Amino acid sequence: MLTGMSQWLTLSRAAHLLGISRVAMQKRIREGELPSFDGMVAVDDLQRSWPELDLDESGSFEKTRAIREDAFARRLRERVLPTQETLAQRLFEQGQELAEAQRTLTRYHALFDSLQARLAVPPPPTAAELGQLLDDGLAQALSVPAPADDIAALDAMLRVMSAHVTVKPSGREFFVEGSETLLKAALRAGLSPNYGCGNGVCGLCKARVVAGETRTVSPSDYRFTEAEKSQNHVLMCSCTALSSDLQLEVLEAAAPEDIPEQRIVAKVRSLDVLSADVMRLHLQTPRSNRLRFLAGQRVTLGVSAGQAEGSDLHGEFPVASCPCDDRNLLFHVSRADRRAASADFSRYLFAGGIKAGDDVSVWGPWGRFVLEEDSARPLVFIAIDEGFAPINSLIEHAIAVDAAESIVLYWASTQPGGQYLPNQCRAWSEALDEFSYQALALDDLSATLAAHSALPQSNVYLAGAAERVPPLAAALLAAGVPPQQLHVEAL
Ligand code: FES
Repeated sequence: MLTGMSQWLTLSRAAHLLGISRVAMQKRIREGELPSFDGMVAVDDLQRSWPELDLDESGSFEKTRAIREDAFARRLRERVLPTQETLAQRLFEQGQELAEAQRTLTRYHALFDSLQARLAVPPPPTAAELGQLLDDGLAQALSVPAPADDIAALDAMLRVMSAHVTVKPSGREFFVEGSETLLKAALRAGLSPNYGCGNGVCGLCKARVVAGETRTVSPSDYRFTEAEKSQNHVLMCSCTALSSDLQLEVLEAAAPEDIPEQRIVAKVRSLDVLSADVMRLHLQTPRSNRLRFLAGQRVTLGVSAGQAEGSDLHGEFPVASCPCDDRNLLFHVSRADRRAASADFSRYLFAGGIKAGDDVSVWGPWGRFVLEEDSARPLVFIAIDEGFAPINSLIEHAIAVDAAESIVLYWASTQPGGQYLPNQCRAWSEALDEFSYQALALDDLSATLAAHSALPQSNVYLAGAAERVPPLAAALLAAGVPPQQLHVEAL
């Protein structure tokens, strides 16, 4: 049972509030710096463990304040009924009052507990002693609010603004912002729920509401059976969370074999030159026909090359974007691609045969180069040249699901300066405390890996051209990386 003078929050809600990752919080718990009980942490302990934390910079607080300031300006302009922003401001104020009331209540509770404990110990207290105990306890219960109440007040407001969803049986969690659909919020958080059309037609995103309530936000044509209705089934693509805490039973993909083969036609949104030899192909899937895949997987792309070329062209490429990136599919296409399965497609693209607005067939997904999500080991990613594409997808996914305490990325290139997205890698290492990035020449990679003493305790993901990967994989195994922790993608 949780007792004491503080408010208690779940780990994910506390991390969400403070704008830090859940793994950073778990690390402090494991190191004994932050007490926890049954997956909960006390607001007072949070404040003690992060004294340097500036709530003003937590993101949540900034968002709240922006709404409040905007509300003030609008109220002056409009002088009408409360707007949504005004309501948000009032909610925050009420959250502060509620936090204060809860704090006082927990202190009364503690006073009651201490009186009970004293009465249980003989000899019975005198009237004077009892009076003193009561006076001291009441003085404490009514004392000035502690600074930690800001967290509780913010939590009270955010419970209204963003709902917390727990998924069964995996135990994964995500937050629903505003009135976005459950499906969109789950994908953004890196989950892999079963779904198809995204449009309320196929019924594949069915989930059972175990606790809490949902609300329909977009129409659907799917008809539930009587049994499904009585078991509280909803469509994740057309419902949002009404309750601030919701529990859903969801069918999730845990492995590549859980995802069916799909065929869709996507549109070329843009072609961007990343370097003299690498082009980024950006496809967008139709609203009603998205591609389900796991981060790190490949797909086959096909275009009609027309009469002049004599046939259709196909190529197999790793998806460089994360499944959390809505309808966007990104690919890094190399001019020097020599693979029989994709060289003609790459040549055609570099020759200007593919333009924005063109249709591209996409089918798949293929491959088992996916993140081992149930493991909390440190992650080491090793990309060689365009092997960075699937690594990019895995890293974005690992960040979205808070997968590890630390992430190390080595990007080795066969050409000087061949790391064609250096700014993105630097942005990760600047934004995330536990992320480190090193760009290096391929010739220096073996020596660098030999100096990485934590490799045998890490999950290692290696991707690059087929001829470069096997010797490195053998070196990693010889350095003590257990085979089940080594994941290899030879392109
Ligand atoms: S994904 Fe098809 S109905 Fe929701």
